[in-house]
Amino acid sequence: MVGCWILAFLLYVMKNFSNYKDFDMKENLAFESKCIHGGLGHEPITGAVSFPIYQTATFRHKGLGESTGYDYSRVLNPTRQELERTMAILEHGTDGFAFSSGQAANMALFTLLNPGDKVILSDDIYGGTFRIGNDIFERYGAKFEYVDMSDIENLKKAITPDTRMVFIETPTNPMMKVTDIKAAVEVAKTVDAIVVVDNTFLTPYFQRPLELGADMVVHSGTKFIGGHNDTIAGIAVTNRKDLAEHMFGQQKTHGNGLASLDSWLLIRGLKTLPLRMKKHDENGRIVADWLRTQKKVTKVFYVGFEDHKGYEISKKQSTGFGSMISFNVDSFETVQKILKRVDMVMFAESLGGTETLITYPRTQTHESIPEDIRQKLGITETFLRLSVGLEDVNDIIRDLDQAING
Ligand SMILES: Cc1ncc(COP(=O)(O)O)c(C=O)c1O
Repeated sequence: MVGCWILAFLLYVMKNFSNYKDFDMKENLAFESKCIHGGLGHEPITGAVSFPIYQTATFRHKGLGESTGYDYSRVLNPTRQELERTMAILEHGTDGFAFSSGQAANMALFTLLNPGDKVILSDDIYGGTFRIGNDIFERYGAKFEYVDMSDIENLKKAITPDTRMVFIETPTNPMMKVTDIKAAVEVAKTVDAIVVVDNTFLTPYFQRPLELGADMVVHSGTKFIGGHNDTIAGIAVTNRKDLAEHMFGQQKTHGNGLASLDSWLLIRGLKTLPLRMKKHDENGRIVADWLRTQKKVTKVFYVGFEDHKGYEISKKQSTGFGSMISFNVDSFETVQKILKRVDMVMFAESLGGTETLITYPRTQTHESIPEDIRQKLGITETFLRLSVGLEDVNDIIRDLDQAING
C-alpha cells in the first residue's frame, strides 16, 4: 500500500516537473502573460506562486529505477529548467538552455564545429565572441570570417560549401548594423549552414529570429533578459532537436549551466521584460534625438533614425529599436571629460539594465579586436556607447548635458 502511494507521488512529481505538455494551453496567452507565467509558472506541489530556488546539488532516489527525473543539478535543476522553458516559449523555440554567461552559451554553441568548418560572423561582433573564434576555435582548425552583413551581397560572396554556421548579431554591438535575418537564412541554407542570431539587444519582445528561419538564438542574459545589472547569464534557444541535444550535452559535460539562484533572478527579470523594453525603447528614442542636436556629438548610431541604413529592415523584422546608441564626439579630450563627469549615468561596461551606462568600446567591450580592424569598423578613440536605462529621461539628458557640454 505504501509502495502504491510512493509510486503515485513519484508519477505526480514527474508529470508536473518533467513533462510540460499539460501547459501547452499557455500558448494562447499574450507575450506579456507568458513572461509572467513562464513554463510551469508556479510550483505545482505546494502552490508557491514564486517558483522556488532549488538550491540542491543532488536529488534523492527512493530506490533503483525510481528517479523523479532529476538526478544531479549540473545536468538538470528545476529552477534552471523553468527559466529555460520560459525562454523557449518566449523565443518560439522548442528547447532552451541557460548558461553561466553569454560567453559560456557561445562556447557551447561553437563546439559544434569540426576542423575545417567555416563560420561567417558579423564584422563588428561583440569582442568576447571574436575572442572565442580567434583565441580558441581557430587553434582547433575552424575558420572564422567576419563580414558586414548589413549588405546581404557580402554574405553571398563569403558563403562557401564548407560554411557550417552563419552567426549574426543584429543590431550589432557596437556599430548598430542591421542584418536582414530572412535574407541571410536564405543564403545560409544554400549550403545547409546553421543560422544563429545573437538577440541580446532586442530580446524576444522586439525580435524573434526563430520565426524568421534562424536555427538558434543566443543571448547575453546578463543584459535585458536579467535587466537589473545584477547577474551574469547566457541563454540559447533552438527549435532543432539535433542542436538541442548538442547544447544539452555541452551543459552536462562542461558544467556551465546557470546556478539556481541566478536562474531565479532571470525568471524574476523576465516578468517585467515587456514593461522594461517599452520604456527602454521610449527613453532610447528621446536620448538619441537629443544627442543628434549636440554640437560636440559628430555622429549618432541609432537604428530608430529613419535615415539609418537598417531602418526599413528593422521595421520589417522587429517591433522596436531598443535603447542602444553609439556616438562619436569631436575629440578624445571630450571623451575623457564625459567619462570623468557623468554622475547619475555610470561609466561601466555592460548594457540592458535599469541603470543608464556609458561604455568606451575601444578599451572595454572591443579591446580584444586588433587596432587596425577597430579603426576600419569605426571603433575609434572618439567613439562611445550608451545603454539608456529606465531613469526619468530628463535626468538622463540633464546628466549627459553637463558631461558633454559643461
Ligand atoms: C551582444 C553580446 N553577446 C554576448 C555577450 C557575452 O555575454 P556575457 O557578458 O554575459 O558573457 C555580450 C556581452 O557584452 C554581448 O554584448
